Amino acid sequence: MGLRIFLFSFFLLAVMLHSARSDDTSSELLDGLNKYRNSLNLSKLTENKNAACLAEQVALAFKDQDCSNSTGSDTVPGTEQQFPNFPDYLSTCHLNATVTRDGSVLPACVPGLVSDLVLSNYTKSQYNQNLNDSSVVGIGIADEGNWIVVVLTTNTDTGNYAPAVEDATTGSAASTVGFHYAMLLLVAFAMFLVS
Ligand SMILES: *[C@@H]1O[C@H](CO)[C@@H](O)[C@H](O)[C@H]1NC(C)=O
Ligand SMILES: *[C@@H]1O[C@H](CO)[C@@H](O)[C@H](O)[C@H]1NC(C)=O
Ligand SMILES: *[C@@H]1O[C@H](CO)[C@@H](O)[C@H](O)[C@H]1NC(C)=O
Ligand SMILES: *[C@@H]1O[C@H](CO)[C@@H](O)[C@H](O)[C@H]1NC(C)=O
Ligand SMILES: *[C@@H]1O[C@H](CO)[C@@H](O)[C@H](O)[C@H]1NC(C)=O
Repeated sequence: MGLRIFLFSFFLLAVMLHSARSDDTSSELLDGLNKYRNSLNLSKLTENKNAACLAEQVALAFKDQDCSNSTGSDTVPGTEQQFPNFPDYLSTCHLNATVTRDGSVLPACVPGLVSDLVLSNYTKSQYNQNLNDSSVVGIGIADEGNWIVVVLTTNTDTGNYAPAVEDATTGSAASTVGFHYAMLLLVAFAMFLVS
């Protein structure tokens, strides 16, 4: 029994550490981007849950790819990687192509996600044009492996990342259920290891 509790605590800690590290990377980048916006006399970006959800889907899709001089912020415009499952990512996040059209999805690949390199990949690359835009008001950030993805939203109906109407009320309930389910799986896995 003691061993089970130990293992369970261990997995819980590992999960918590993982998400804390991701939070650090994201909040440091958000901080840096808002300082940059301030230097341009533009409004602070506010966090948008749906944009963060989409950023996570895209980050997962990039996760296992290597960085090169033609990926991430170095991508030549017009050759951006297309994901066939993109419509699924949208519906997973209660979004559709209409409300995301004016927004932008900006992936960057930085080995080890070194924070100053991550920031300059946004402020000192072609992405600075996306950031230097007064219609941009919201942001979602996610990272996986060496990849970090920023999704920018606008103050227009065609870029505000408003959740699809029929899903708006079920969204948070679904993620709570998802969390409980994940915890259950974790416990089950810990039990499996000791049995
Ligand atoms: C920002 O606003 C300040 C004061 O209004 C002005 O002095 C400065 O030149 C502006 N900077 C930019 C980049 O527009
Ligand atoms: C990217 O790297 C390759 C080989 O390392 C090189 O041939 C190519 O010119 C580079 N491209 C750019 C855009 O720097
Ligand atoms: C972006 O990050 C890469 C590391 O993958 C780095 O080599 C490059 O200099 C960075 N680009 C900018 C504009 O900061
Ligand atoms: C930001 O945009 C403004 C207006 O479009 C332009 O005057 C300025 O040079 C841009 N700044 C940067 C750093 O791109
Ligand atoms: C997309 O979602 C918005 C916001 O809920 C809704 O008004 C719009 O009709 C939807 N568009 C499509 C094509 O489903």
